Amino acid sequence: MKRLLFINACVRGEKSRTLKLARHFLNCYCSAHRDTEVAEVDLCTLRLPPQYPEVLAQRDELWNAGKLDHPMFEPARQFASADQIVVAAPFWDLSFPAALKIYLERISVTDLTFGYDAQGAMMGLCKADWLLYVTTRGGYYAGTPLDIAAAHIKGLGVMYGIPQVRFLDAEGLDDIRNDPAALLAAAMERAAELAAGI
Ligand SMILES: Cc1cc2nc3c(=O)[nH]c(=O)nc-3n(C[C@H](O)[C@H](O)[C@H](O)COP(=O)(O)O)c2cc1C
Repeated sequence: MKRLLFINACVRGEKSRTLKLARHFLNCYCSAHRDTEVAEVDLCTLRLPPQYPEVLAQRDELWNAGKLDHPMFEPARQFASADQIVVAAPFWDLSFPAALKIYLERISVTDLTFGYDAQGAMMGLCKADWLLYVTTRGGYYAGTPLDIAAAHIKGLGVMYGIPQVRFLDAEGLDDIRNDPAALLAAAMERAAELAAGI
């Protein structure tokens, strides 16, 4: 079985349009790829603490002692070993909710998700062949420098050594001139096409 890791940062839970879009992709993908099992990490349930000084100190102490099998590093080990990764997060303040940033800091562990070669160059250590980032936005930001979320995820994809970072989105959902249901329905169709072709 292939293990697909689903990172759910959709703070509005079942009301979230991003979550609806991501779930639709996952359903279509699993129908087309019967050998896939999905492990979901709901960041609002996991509630990792930010890397305040004492958290960082504990992490450094464990890392320096070579204790990479400690539960603190479990999210990083899980991320590094996933075959595919789907991250779902709404577009918040040009980026994504803080819960996702905290998770990304937690999984960015040297010698687990990334490392350095003998020449000192950074190299990714994650197994996933692709990462899909699913989002919805109130306005229009895709492809602009203001889409900090996409830039951040693209950069981390390089750092983690994940060869393909893909994006699935619906935009303009809060623009009063738009029909949000129609925009979401169109994104659902794109999700189905992507799930069949990825
Ligand atoms: C805290 C917060 C911040 C937001 N910031 C932005 C923003 O910077 N730009 C934008 O276009 N929409 C912004 N929005 C609107 C959301 O991106 C939009 O409503 C999105 O569809 C919400 O996704 P969800 O239904 O999955 O929660 C924000 C919404 C919230 C609640």
